[in-house]
Amino acid sequence: MHVLILGAAAGGGFPQWNCHCENCKGVRTGSIDAKPRTQSSIAVSTDGEKWVLINASPDLREQINSHPQLWPAPHVKRGTRISAIVLTDSQIDHTTGLLTLREGLPLPVYCTDVVKEDLTTSFPLFTVLKHWHGGLQQHTISTNYADSFVPEGADGLTFQPVVLESNAPPYSTYRDNIVSGNNIGLKITDNASGNVLFYAPGCMQANDTVKQVMREASCVLFDGTLWVNEEMIDHGFSNKLGTDMGHMPVNGDNGAIALLNDFNVARKVLIHINNTNQVLNEGSCAYRTLTQQGIELAYDGMEIEV
Ligand code: MLT
Ligand code: MN
Ligand code: ZN
Repeated sequence: MHVLILGAAAGGGFPQWNCHCENCKGVRTGSIDAKPRTQSSIAVSTDGEKWVLINASPDLREQINSHPQLWPAPHVKRGTRISAIVLTDSQIDHTTGLLTLREGLPLPVYCTDVVKEDLTTSFPLFTVLKHWHGGLQQHTISTNYADSFVPEGADGLTFQPVVLESNAPPYSTYRDNIVSGNNIGLKITDNASGNVLFYAPGCMQANDTVKQVMREASCVLFDGTLWVNEEMIDHGFSNKLGTDMGHMPVNGDNGAIALLNDFNVARKVLIHINNTNQVLNEGSCAYRTLTQQGIELAYDGMEIEV
C-alpha cells in the first residue's frame, strides 16, 4: 500500500497565520531548521491510480495541487483520483477540505454516525454540500472493531475502525462528554501482503484495541500534537492541557514515545504536529531525542510503502 502524507501539522498548520511563537517565527524567517507543514491529512492507495483521502484538511486544494499523484488522470477533462473520503472525527482541520471538493461531487464519504450528526447539525457541512450535485454520499463506519469496510476504490485494502479516547470539537454536542465514535483511528490492512497501517492522529490514552493494533502494525502514524501536556498553557495560548483537547503529549511517562517504544513496529511516525511543538525544530534536543529512538517526524510529501 502506498501512503502519502498530505499534511503533517495539527489544526492551524505550521506556521499558523497569527502565531509568532519561536517555531512559527523561526520557520517564517528561516532562523531555525524546520519544514512548513499543512494541516492534517493522508491518502492511501494500492494501485497509485485511485486514492482514498483520509481526512479533508482546510489546505486540501494546495495539497492536491502539489501532489501529482492526485491530479486528474491525463485523458479526462475533469475528474479526480480521489475515490472516497474517510473521516476520523468532525474537527475543522479534518473536515473543512470537503468544501474544496464541491466541484467534484458527488463523492462517497465514510464516517461514524456521531461524526455525521456533528456534520449535519452543529457544523452542517454535509447539509451545505447537498447543493453541489447532490453532495456527499455518506456511508456509516461502525464503532465495532470487527466491522471492517472497504471504501470505494480501495480494493485490496481492509479498513477497521479503532475507537480512540480523545475529545470532540468545541461545537459538538459531545464536547467533553465523548461517546464511542467521536474519534476513531484506522487499521488498514493490505490484503496481498498482510501489512498493517495504523493511523491515529488524535489519541489521549491508549486503550486495549490501540495496543493490539500496534502489536500487528508495520507502520504507525501516531498523534504527535504536543511535546508536553502543559504546552498551550505555558505559551499562554490556552488554559487547556493537551489531554483536555484529546491529545497525549509526545514526551514523558504517559507520552507517545513511551507508548511506541513498547512495540516492535518497523516504521513509527509522529503526525498531526502542533506548531508549538519543539520537535518541529530539527536542531532541538526534542528532535534528537525522537530520532535517536527510531521514531520519525512526518512531513508534507512524505511517502511510505507499507
Ligand atoms: C485538534 O486536534 O485538537 C485540532 O487540531 C483542533 C483544531 O483543528 O482547531
Ligand atoms: Mn486536529
Ligand atoms: Zn506558533
